[in-house]
Amino acid sequence: MLNDIEKVYYSCDELHEIVARLGRQISEDYKDKNLLMVSILKGSVIFMADLMREITIPCEIDFMCVSSYGNETENSSGIVKIIKDLDINIEGYDLLIVEDILDSGRTLNNVISLLKHRNPASIRICTLLDKPERRVVDLYADYSGAEVPDAFVVGYGLDYAQKYRNLPYIGVLKEEIYS
Ligand code: IMP
Ligand code: MG
Repeated sequence: MLNDIEKVYYSCDELHEIVARLGRQISEDYKDKNLLMVSILKGSVIFMADLMREITIPCEIDFMCVSSYGNETENSSGIVKIIKDLDINIEGYDLLIVEDILDSGRTLNNVISLLKHRNPASIRICTLLDKPERRVVDLYADYSGAEVPDAFVVGYGLDYAQKYRNLPYIGVLKEEIYS
C-alpha cells in the first residue's frame, strides 16, 4: 500500500495542526448556536472523529451517506442517491457539513439543496481539502483545511476504489495505479 504513494501532501502532524485550527475557529463561531456536525460518509470519518475532539462547545453529530464517484477518479455525475439518511430532525439546528474533499462541488450542492427543505437554522460547509480549480458549481467552503492541486489524493479517510482510507496521512497516488 505504501509503495502506491507518489508523494505525501500532508503528514500526520500537519493534519493535526490543520484540524486543530479548524476546531478552534468553529468553536468560536458556533458558541451561541445549536451545532450539529453532519459527516458525509465514508470519506470524512477520520476527519470528523478528529475534528469533533477539537470542538470545545456542546454539539451533536449525525451521519449521512450519499453515492458519488463509485470506483472512478473522474466524472462525478452529481446525481446523489441517499444511501443512509440523517437520524435527526434537523429543524432549528445549525448544520455544519463535514466533508473530506470538495471537488466539482456537485455532491454537496445536491446534499445542501435537499437539506435546506428540512428547515435547519443554517448550513455551512467544513471540508478538509479543497480542489477549487475543479469546481463546476457555484459552491465554496466556509471552512477549508487545505487546498490541493488537481491530483487524486488518498488517505486519512479518502479512498481510491475503497482502499487507502487507513493511511494516516494524505498522499497522491502513483498515476499507474488509477490509469
Ligand atoms: P464532487 O461532487 O465532485 O465535489 O465530489 C466530491 C467527492 O468525490 C468527495 O467527497 C470524494 O469522495 C470524492 N473525491 C473527489 N476528489 C477525490 C480525490 O482526490 N481523492 C479521493 N476522493 C475524491
Ligand atoms: Mg466523500
